[in-house]
Amino acid sequence: MAIYQMESLIIQSFYGGYDQNFVYLITDKFSGEQCLIDAAIPFSNIEKFIPDNLSSLLITHSHGDHIAYLDDISHVFTSINIFSFSQQNSTKYSVQAIRDSQIIKLGNTKINVLHTPGHFPDSVCFLINNALFTGDTLFVGRTGRTISQGSDVRKLYQSVYSKLLTLPKDTLIFPGHNYGPKPTITLGENIQISPLLQAINEQDFIARMDQYEVNR
Ligand SMILES: [Fe+2]
Repeated sequence: MAIYQMESLIIQSFYGGYDQNFVYLITDKFSGEQCLIDAAIPFSNIEKFIPDNLSSLLITHSHGDHIAYLDDISHVFTSINIFSFSQQNSTKYSVQAIRDSQIIKLGNTKINVLHTPGHFPDSVCFLINNALFTGDTLFVGRTGRTISQGSDVRKLYQSVYSKLLTLPKDTLIFPGHNYGPKPTITLGENIQISPLLQAINEQDFIARMDQYEVNR
């Protein structure tokens, strides 16, 4: 577990799951309210860090590794608010659909929803003050890939270049997987180390993505 102290928030990151996943526990310092970003690791790994009640669970996208422990968490917190861009059907829990630009409250803290399709149609990022939780849209060192069914490289370009790279350069990136040389990075430094974030236009980005897949 790593801990990041922000002005009005505490961010704790947990590592594990199916593929070097990160789960984030956000605590609003003023109210003590807590929310979780993604259900990618077993609840038993994090429960001792949740003293009271978890008010909400935010899903970055519905790929299996990110929602693997939804049942697990909703079983413990039966009245938890689960937020996802896409409606997920289950008899065990209900999901509230979120949309682009929506604000979710966590105590005094505002969580901004950015719909960022491309890696997957229901991909969203969550911006909380200057912390950006990017799921599989943006990692340390590169963007997400567009190889799964429903991926769209042009949409990913629009999402990343118009919605994320336009944020302040000191925005801290908290990705959904630990794929880079370090777990978190500022947006400005990420652009410097990532060829996929240096494209001059959409066509250039698609060429860079193709090249990336060839070199993997
Ligand atoms: Fe994914």
